[in-house]
Amino acid sequence: MPSFEVRTPQCVYQAIVERGIIDRLHEFIPAKAGSVFVVTTQDVWQHQGARAEKALADVPHRVLYLPGGEENKRLAPLEALAEQMVRAGGDRSSIVIAFGGGIVNDMGGFLAAMFMRGIPVVQVPTTLLAQVDAAVGGKTGVNLVAGKNLIGAFHQPQAVLIDPGVLDTLPSREYRAGLFEVIKCGVIRSPRLFELLEHRVHDVLRLTHDAVDELISESVRIKAEVVSADEKEGGLRRILNFGHTVGHALEAETAYSRFLHGEAVAFGMKAATRIAELNGILSRADRKQICDLVNRYGPIPPLHGIRAENLLGRLIHDKKTLRGKVHFVLPERIGEVRVVTGVDDDTILSAIRAELL
Ligand code: GLY
Repeated sequence: MPSFEVRTPQCVYQAIVERGIIDRLHEFIPAKAGSVFVVTTQDVWQHQGARAEKALADVPHRVLYLPGGEENKRLAPLEALAEQMVRAGGDRSSIVIAFGGGIVNDMGGFLAAMFMRGIPVVQVPTTLLAQVDAAVGGKTGVNLVAGKNLIGAFHQPQAVLIDPGVLDTLPSREYRAGLFEVIKCGVIRSPRLFELLEHRVHDVLRLTHDAVDELISESVRIKAEVVSADEKEGGLRRILNFGHTVGHALEAETAYSRFLHGEAVAFGMKAATRIAELNGILSRADRKQICDLVNRYGPIPPLHGIRAENLLGRLIHDKKTLRGKVHFVLPERIGEVRVVTGVDDDTILSAIRAELL
């Protein structure tokens, strides 16, 4: 099974895609490590913990629980976990294993970044979205009332252990939400991945092993390549935000409660694709092909009651934090995107309105 090297100024590590890798978790804990802390949620541990416990049978460790849910992705639960770590003898030689979905990966990584000014973390993502995106690349953090991920750190993991087998028990809605991030990878950088998603819909939705393994591997390959070229999002890494400009606005507009992140990104990708067509940088045929693929892995929850003007208002509000400019990642063709600023408000409104219909 493939392994992808991520090379950043901070460190070099492997993102390994392998069925059964969770059974070898102990092999990724350095012999010199002190206390081992597994950070997870009750729910994830109930479903997946037995295998990890078996792998860690000879490794003294303590399991720490996060509350789970976007509304609990805040600093306070991390402070509580850090207190537990100190009481349990944690020190600078300790290590965190972040075992769960994207929220656990982000929070466990941030806990490791802060604890004693930084200890190692091994990422074990258990949702598709976390496997193809959140766990690779070192972005960690929590939300503020003002917005998502507004405090955090780039803290690269020691290793990312991706076991596609865990997806067999993932709720179907969560799996499909992850597939939208896979479509994103295809549109920004991989016509091959796009084609796989188009031609093997049935296999992908039925979790046929070879199809799932290939789509995860290709997405992780792309993520590793992009992060290796640009760890801190100074340039190339921004392409990973395709669909996220409008997607984040949709999540905020619905109080983070109506759409899963991947679903909001699906809507954002369709809006961005239409902006690209309206701006004359993408053909109508390519726009249709991208939107058809997104729809094929839908539906996303109903969009009733959402006003295009409100979404635009949120984008404009975001301008303040982006030096006055909204950035869009717009496709030029399948497998190639460019970052564009200065899209006029009427074009944005028309595109969003068309996708709200
Ligand atoms: N999720 C986007 C990134 O890692 O940059």
